[in-house]
Amino acid sequence: MCGIIGVTGTGPVTPRLIDSLKRLEYRGYDSAGVAALVDGVTERRRAQGKIRNLETVLAETPLNATVGIGHTRWATHGAPTTENAHPHKAGRVTLVHNGIIENFAELKAELAAEGHVFESQTDTEVVAHLLDRELAKSNDAIAAFKRVLDRLTGAYALAVLIDGEDEQILGARRGSPLVVGWGEDEMYLGSDALAVGPFTQQISYLEEGDYVVLNRAGARFFDSTGSEVERAVVQVSASSAMVEKGAYRHFMEKEIHEQPDSVQHTLSAYLDLVSGTARSQPVDFSKLDRVQIVACGTAFFAGQIGRYAFERLAGLPCDVEIASEFRYREPAVSPSTLAVAVSQSGETADTLACLTWCKAHGLKTAAIVNVHTSSMAREADVLWPTHAGPEIGVASTKAFTAQVAALLALAVAAGVARGRIDATREAELVKALFEAPRLISEALAMDADIRREVVELAKADDVLFLGRGAMYPLAMEGALKLKEISYIHAEGYAAGELKHGPIALIDEFTPTVALAPLDDVFEKTASNLQEVAARGGPVIMIAPAEAEAPHGASIRRIDAPDCHPLIAPLVYAVPMQLLAYYTAVQKGTDVDQPRNLAKSVTVE
Ligand code: F6R
Repeated sequence: MCGIIGVTGTGPVTPRLIDSLKRLEYRGYDSAGVAALVDGVTERRRAQGKIRNLETVLAETPLNATVGIGHTRWATHGAPTTENAHPHKAGRVTLVHNGIIENFAELKAELAAEGHVFESQTDTEVVAHLLDRELAKSNDAIAAFKRVLDRLTGAYALAVLIDGEDEQILGARRGSPLVVGWGEDEMYLGSDALAVGPFTQQISYLEEGDYVVLNRAGARFFDSTGSEVERAVVQVSASSAMVEKGAYRHFMEKEIHEQPDSVQHTLSAYLDLVSGTARSQPVDFSKLDRVQIVACGTAFFAGQIGRYAFERLAGLPCDVEIASEFRYREPAVSPSTLAVAVSQSGETADTLACLTWCKAHGLKTAAIVNVHTSSMAREADVLWPTHAGPEIGVASTKAFTAQVAALLALAVAAGVARGRIDATREAELVKALFEAPRLISEALAMDADIRREVVELAKADDVLFLGRGAMYPLAMEGALKLKEISYIHAEGYAAGELKHGPIALIDEFTPTVALAPLDDVFEKTASNLQEVAARGGPVIMIAPAEAEAPHGASIRRIDAPDCHPLIAPLVYAVPMQLLAYYTAVQKGTDVDQPRNLAKSVTVE
């Protein structure tokens, strides 16, 4: 998760870029850079480390200009060096980028064959070369930009300067957010409202697939088909932009939409796409004989998804237990067990007590936490951070997928360390994981289909959620989300367990939501759904369009993106969350602060 700012106006631009970057340091902080158009030609200044290092460079070699872009980086592709710092430049094009260009390796090979020479190891530089090549074909910058965007696969936000195109900044959004700020004779582009907060509170949010052209007089927006469109201007309070809802009705909705970014940021802490490898960890997985995960609520379900990955990918036995049970059960633990606490807040009393207990019983401990200064972060021997950013909605969404992302990535690292995953498989799994941000963006587009379904769902008193494999804990998480915010009773079951009891609940008033990615147990899940349909139970089946539909008049389909089975829990979490969210909205409940709940449970 990197920070982006662009300014086109009449005053000195670098102090403005720096002011904004300082506010964006929370998004990424291993290097930073700015570029500005000086007499029609772009010049760059970059530095490794914090923004103050960039300030030193700018003090020695100032940039006097009125149009510029800036970036603070959290390394995903290539080490955090000055060469890999943004902005990247190729010919007339200079740009900054947040996100992942998944097909960068193919594009780089194509460009290299044509003689393009690359300075950095980043995926970003490929985009600069592509655009420079397109500009050489025709000087229509907007058309060239669109042709380049059409070649990119991944989730990204871009800000671009072109030599000779004075006053102009191009921007594009797919998966990663981007906003336009409206000033007096000055316009801004930023990765969030906070980026442009020092200058304006008048914001337009780019929609998925939009691109935009700014000059100091205004902005022209285009949608993904290339049609020019209008985007509304909204008022955002600058001081608290980070914890503002922006264009969203609720924090929960905003946080659901932040997941392409938060998952990418978290994955990047554990994996490197350029080398196709998992980063080394301060835990020797080859010496462990067991992992014991402890957590509560949503974090417990994330842990259960992690268990499937640790056992399947690393052959590492993994137990997952609710912290309030583990704590008082006098568990028998072996010394070569790694205890892992999973928690958004890092303060949950039961989980923290388990961590302390495990430490006191001589186990090595780790904490997967989103609040990096929390008690668990400090107590554990190893801190495995998630990078979801502040989560305000009481019902956990982006913290959950960040926990799952961290666990899946760590399971790959464990598999490599234990000799279960060779280099080819490691590269395949790393590539698959980095597809998650794009596929989460695609899952967010299921919005309209889900809204259609909730009209009936909101009338139900009971709802069942079914899944197999890692979709089973996700089914329980889906049920928890629905319970928490819509107050509808819901349960998640392993699809194969249905006929051992819960099928007695099925009638025409009890909907079943089924999570059915195209994996090795799809056929089995599908036949369980037929059992439900045969008893007249309404079924909402969430599955890829390619999946052969089971028959039955009461089965309704919602098409989900097809994906690698490893990342299915990340992708299918989105329709679960949206289903709960829109049902709650339909029922008019207090989505962000549901009754009887608290964000951080620091009592037993
Ligand atoms: C559900 C939810 C809770 C928390 C649980 C643990 O949406 O948010 O179930 O997951 O209270 O909290 P943390 O992760 O802070 O330990």
